[in-house]
Amino acid sequence: MLTTYDTPDQRNLLDRTGQGIIGAPLDRPDGPLKVAGQAPYAAEYDLVGCAEGVLVGAAISKGSIAAIHRDEVLAMPGVLLVLSDKAMLRRPAQGGAAQAPAQDVRQIDYHGQPVALVVAETFEQATAAAKALRIDYDDQSGSGRFDPDALDFAPGEEPTVLGDIDEAMSKAAHRVDETYRTEGHASAAMEPHAAIAQWDGDDLTLWGSLQMVAPNVKELADSLRIPDARVRIVAPYVGGGFGSKLGISHEGVAAALAALELQRPVRVTLSRQQVFETVNRRSETRQRVRLGADAGGRLLALGHEAWISNLPAEDFAEPVTQATQFLYGGDNRYLAVLKGEITRLTAGSVRAPGEAVGMQVLESVMDELAHKIGIDPIELRKRNLPARLPGQDLPYSSRKLFEAMDEGGAAFGWSKRKPKPCMTRDGEWWVGMGMASAARVNMMQPASAQVRLEADGRVIVETDQTDIGTGSYAILGQIAGEMLGCPMDRVEVRLGDSRFPAGAGSGGSWAASSTGSAVFRACESIRIELAGRLRIDSEALELSGGIARGAGKEAPVTRLLAGAPLERIGRIKPGKTADNYAQASYGAFFCEAGVNAFTGEVRVRRMLGAFGFGRVLNAKTARSQCLGGMVWGIGGALSEELQFDPRDGRLMNHDLAEYHIPVNRDVPPIEVLLLEERDAAASPIQAKGAGELGICGTGGAIANAIFNACGVRPRHFPITPDKLL
Ligand code: MOS
Repeated sequence: MLTTYDTPDQRNLLDRTGQGIIGAPLDRPDGPLKVAGQAPYAAEYDLVGCAEGVLVGAAISKGSIAAIHRDEVLAMPGVLLVLSDKAMLRRPAQGGAAQAPAQDVRQIDYHGQPVALVVAETFEQATAAAKALRIDYDDQSGSGRFDPDALDFAPGEEPTVLGDIDEAMSKAAHRVDETYRTEGHASAAMEPHAAIAQWDGDDLTLWGSLQMVAPNVKELADSLRIPDARVRIVAPYVGGGFGSKLGISHEGVAAALAALELQRPVRVTLSRQQVFETVNRRSETRQRVRLGADAGGRLLALGHEAWISNLPAEDFAEPVTQATQFLYGGDNRYLAVLKGEITRLTAGSVRAPGEAVGMQVLESVMDELAHKIGIDPIELRKRNLPARLPGQDLPYSSRKLFEAMDEGGAAFGWSKRKPKPCMTRDGEWWVGMGMASAARVNMMQPASAQVRLEADGRVIVETDQTDIGTGSYAILGQIAGEMLGCPMDRVEVRLGDSRFPAGAGSGGSWAASSTGSAVFRACESIRIELAGRLRIDSEALELSGGIARGAGKEAPVTRLLAGAPLERIGRIKPGKTADNYAQASYGAFFCEAGVNAFTGEVRVRRMLGAFGFGRVLNAKTARSQCLGGMVWGIGGALSEELQFDPRDGRLMNHDLAEYHIPVNRDVPPIEVLLLEERDAAASPIQAKGAGELGICGTGGAIANAIFNACGVRPRHFPITPDKLL
């Protein structure tokens, strides 16, 4: 269902081209290819003479390598190479670092860290040799730090301090001061990490499973210490990423190093266990939230402090308070993220870094406050939406939070919710309802894309933008089709190759609005050229079904092209508006949950999310993003939890049998309402980020439904049955 809140903005071309393509719930063109096995993933290219590499992980948590008994496995059948003397194998350069980190080649920072690559003629031979590889360690695991509660914490960034929170808390008529915990998460993308590398002289081609092609080229080049121009990355189809493929990782660097050494192509695929053990985790968090309100339920004090962890040399700190900065008012604020150094695998971006766990907790504590005051949770939130960004006095660009709560609540039947817990029983089950706000910052990235109008009128879009299952192929084609009046069966989108202009990449919910705007700009430029050839003002140009019209003139587009293609590159970068407005996507979650009175089992019975993220580019792919996010929310609320051995920091549940993502039986009917808006400050196509919003608060709505059902408020996610009995 799609509700239009903002009237179409006739100043924006996408609202006056009138093709009915933009926003339409069109199928993804990559869908049939994927279903038929015709969309090759990173490991699925057949290269002549390709050797197979298997990574070996450290069997200790901290220390160094004393000796690697290479010769023993080099004698095994089919084994070609044991690579272990390259530091870049241990920790590839990430985030466009100028250089791969200088590192002692023998140093080990966490259990499972890749320390060697064994290459053989077949995968089975390489696997057997990797298992047999004997390594002597200088084991200093005893000096590791494995308990996230016992670390020395230091601020990641300057805390946000406004007014005096302690005084405001002491004067508040109603107050909540609670500490919650969330456990670590895995990205758990469907496609395991894999790469194939092939050198042609000094030129490297890498087929990889990656989210951000242009930065990944730079990272790979930096890791290998070769010029960027020597590296080509190909990633047209990516089976999910969720942050785990934002940066180049071990398999890509290892494949490139081995292929250079052997002078033949090398493929490195990670097992599911290796993905869990070596790819970014989301940090566990401890979060203290302080809310102090006056008698009318208006916040006077807002405190949110988070304690997170990462490896000593890593900068990333889960930005837990990101949405707390802008979502609610309160003149007295204290927001801080504190980082402790732990001996565990690297913490990094996992879907909606910050909000996924920060909103889950903030929205639970808001529910605690509403319950204490005795007002409806929606009403409490409405009383606390600030008119301007607290502390910075900036306007909000667009914010459909009221509308999401009202529309969503009406569609869900929120008015039937019982105000107190334990008022609805269905056989063995206590049943309750909960809600939460959704909020996620809106970000934009520099992006470029080429659009070519072929002499026969077909449209080709090319950018290195990836499609990680999100719908990039569909929406980029729709923008071009709408702008150039070209039916979709004559539009082709080519993605994920570093030979194409650099898109924004897939991350931070910025792909659609950023790379989409680059396609939009390229099409604007083509329209201006076509109008010139028709000798009319471009404002008057109408393009439809291959015909150009305007100011009483008309010509087939192919005649205007006169046998030659017309191509333009569109470029976009974040401008001043990013600094002049508080920009975010908003929504509301509603959940009905049952709690088994005897076993503590929780069953989410139904959920609804209502979201506003600017222009909806494709109602089907947008809805699917929201659904996927909400399914993640179920996992974060009820089952997902990385478990580390407290003795050595080793990840214990390193596969999908032990790390419990929601399965079909866990996912109830979910309804999505899209509240279409226009955000002219966010991007030229007036769209904001959609991808991650569906997980930003979901777990809070589920926890609040659990409390409303049975009166128990566990403050430790995931809410497993033991916490309810
Ligand atoms: Mo996202 S966690 O920026 O893929």
